[in-house]
Amino acid sequence: MPRENVVDLIRQSKPIDVTRPVRSDDVRGRTIVITGGASGFGASFARHWAAHGAYLILGDIQDQAGEALVAELRSIPGASPHQHYRHCDVASWESQDAFFRDAVSLSPHGGLDDVVANAGVSDNDFSFCRAEEKRGAGKSDATTGPDKPDLKCLDINLVGTAYTAHLAMYWLARNPGSTASALGRPRTPGGGGPPHRDRHLLLVGSVASLWPVAQATQYTASKHAVLGLFRALRGVAGWQAGVRVNLLCPYIVATGIVPPVARVALAGAAVGHVDAAVEAGTRLVADASIVGRALVVGPKVRVRDDGETYEVTELLAQGGFAADHENGRGGEMAGRGAVSLRRGRRMRTTTSWWR
Ligand SMILES: NC(=O)c1ccc[n+]([C@@H]2O[C@H](COP(=O)([O-])OP(=O)(O)OC[C@H]3O[C@@H](n4cnc5c(N)ncnc54)[C@H](O)[C@@H]3O)[C@@H](O)[C@H]2O)c1
Repeated sequence: MPRENVVDLIRQSKPIDVTRPVRSDDVRGRTIVITGGASGFGASFARHWAAHGAYLILGDIQDQAGEALVAELRSIPGASPHQHYRHCDVASWESQDAFFRDAVSLSPHGGLDDVVANAGVSDNDFSFCRAEEKRGAGKSDATTGPDKPDLKCLDINLVGTAYTAHLAMYWLARNPGSTASALGRPRTPGGGGPPHRDRHLLLVGSVASLWPVAQATQYTASKHAVLGLFRALRGVAGWQAGVRVNLLCPYIVATGIVPPVARVALAGAAVGHVDAAVEAGTRLVADASIVGRALVVGPKVRVRDDGETYEVTELLAQGGFAADHENGRGGEMAGRGAVSLRRGRRMRTTTSWWR
């Protein structure tokens, strides 16, 4: 089947032009659910979107931090009082199911416009190669075998995200004021009239969706799986349920998820900025015409060695990245037409990744 027919069938939108300004005000009036919303990216998304008039419902296991954040959001000048936190353990189906029901009942219009599957953790056991160290001296020998591994990272990042996606598909398709036929249309009609409601699932992957992170075995596996979830889901969510599915893949940013040992290892290297992730996430949420697309948010790195230094602001993964990845070229961060560059500050280091 010609590729164009598949694109038409799944109603994927055109490549994103990241040089166009992000319209943060277009989040106004949206009800947005964020899992893992009490800290890090989730909290930064919440602050930005609440400041631009969105209604946030945050789910997390850090109840104190979540409640404190909601109090902060309500005090932002111009923000709506419709800001809520509810306990939600994404690894538990019962907990997430209850959280989504709560979220729907808390929404001012009784539905959800956006679900951001953001909750995640890093590996608590960096590789599968050191089982004997976990057992303690003298406990490991050829007959006992290793202890059962703790797969919490997969439970949260993979199973938890799959639960979120499953619940999102159900509730987004039931968002009052939304229609499947509006998929891919800008929310505010050109000829005036009220904006239609959206149905949007934003998955949060990582650069670890594209490249392996040495020692972070479960994390890499889970984030590759989120990429797979995105690629499969975007193939059906549009035409079957009128839900647009997009993916955000941030580069390493110093949030709570980055363990101290990794911060030390990264000292002096280029790291990402949470603001860039918020900007990219806002673009995907605010622009209802973006369907089935992914943005990789890169660090500021030197990408040319001919005396010119550029700042990589956002590396576009335009659906094409998956094909590139399959061809073994997914590690090439620069040098593609899809990469958006602008002249910037000279950086200290060049970051290179395994292919
Ligand atoms: N910071 C980075 O370098 C980076 C890079 C790429 C992708 N990401 C992804 O971004 C997302 C957010 O991470 P972050 O960097 O903001 O880290 P973070 O640790 O600051 O935030 C993660 C949040 O998820 C919550 N959480 C953990 N387990 C949970 C559970 N079982 N149920 C509900 N919530 C739970 C935590 O309490 C925390 O508030 C994650 O999916 C992460 O993999 C982060």
